[in-house]
Amino acid sequence: MGSVTVRAPAKINLQLAVGGRRPDGYHELATVFHAVSLYDDVTATEAATLQVTVGGDREIPFDGVPRDDSNLAARAAIALAEHAGLEPEVHLHIHKGIPLAGGMAGGSADAAAALVACDALWGTGLSRAELHTLATTLGSDVPFALMGGTAVGLGRGELLTPALARGRFEWVLALSDEGLSTAEVYAECDRLRGRRVLPEPRVSDALMAAVRAGDAHALGPALRNDLQPAACSLRPGLRQILDIGDEYGALGSVVSGSGPTVALLARGTEHALDLAVALGASGACQSVKRASGPATAARAVEGSAARRV
Ligand code: C5P
Repeated sequence: MGSVTVRAPAKINLQLAVGGRRPDGYHELATVFHAVSLYDDVTATEAATLQVTVGGDREIPFDGVPRDDSNLAARAAIALAEHAGLEPEVHLHIHKGIPLAGGMAGGSADAAAALVACDALWGTGLSRAELHTLATTLGSDVPFALMGGTAVGLGRGELLTPALARGRFEWVLALSDEGLSTAEVYAECDRLRGRRVLPEPRVSDALMAAVRAGDAHALGPALRNDLQPAACSLRPGLRQILDIGDEYGALGSVVSGSGPTVALLARGTEHALDLAVALGASGACQSVKRASGPATAARAVEGSAARRV
């Protein structure tokens, strides 16, 4: 039986500048995506019909992942099959290492991994540009999961330009068991802003210079997320996590995407361990993970090339 496993990274947003709501309901963004070393694996295996099964790391409560066609990985397989004129005859097994509804684009990682895995399994041989176009139809963050690294995203996040980035950044991620709905966080952001006239969102020059230089000390104070007030309004406990970051010397702390994950930038690997211990002991979050970035794009796990029998 042919089978291929693809690993796709989580993301955090080093900056998320949110403009006004567009006529299509989405918000105009200027964001800096940064892939970090938490991964979901999607294994695509030939099957008579489309099936989804789910497993995961010990700390990740994955019961809430849909097993039907509403799963973003299943929708990716269906979209690719339609594009190629095939039936979506595949079993997708998703192994979650990325928290659900955490603002880290885990569902998007699964969709990107499923696209790459099914493309290899079915021998459809799509170009990167074709995969990107399909990814855009699946969700705002799916194209970035195909690209990985660090990238500027405009539009609703799908217009991507890779960023020059040097070195590695060490992160501590404060996770919550209960996710936040992206749509609800954007709606809360609109509510808090009221009728304010908004400037066009743009990426900060200071942040991009810090990324280019690999300078964590300069990056820390430049981290910024316009959705953070909305995420904290819906989940007031997040402020305590941000305060612990300050208290224990994080270079910067920011809610990731629509939250509730909070990313704390450490001075190095040892400091990351200290921060993780302090956060774990505080009880302010359900679990803590360490990760580094930038991580690489969705790609086949070595030794899992599709083999037909
Ligand atoms: O594209 P995706 O399905 O990830 O978006 C989920 C929801 O988040 C959208 O339905 C929309 O309410 C909100 N969103 C937004 N502006 C964006 C991205 C997402 O309002 N740029």
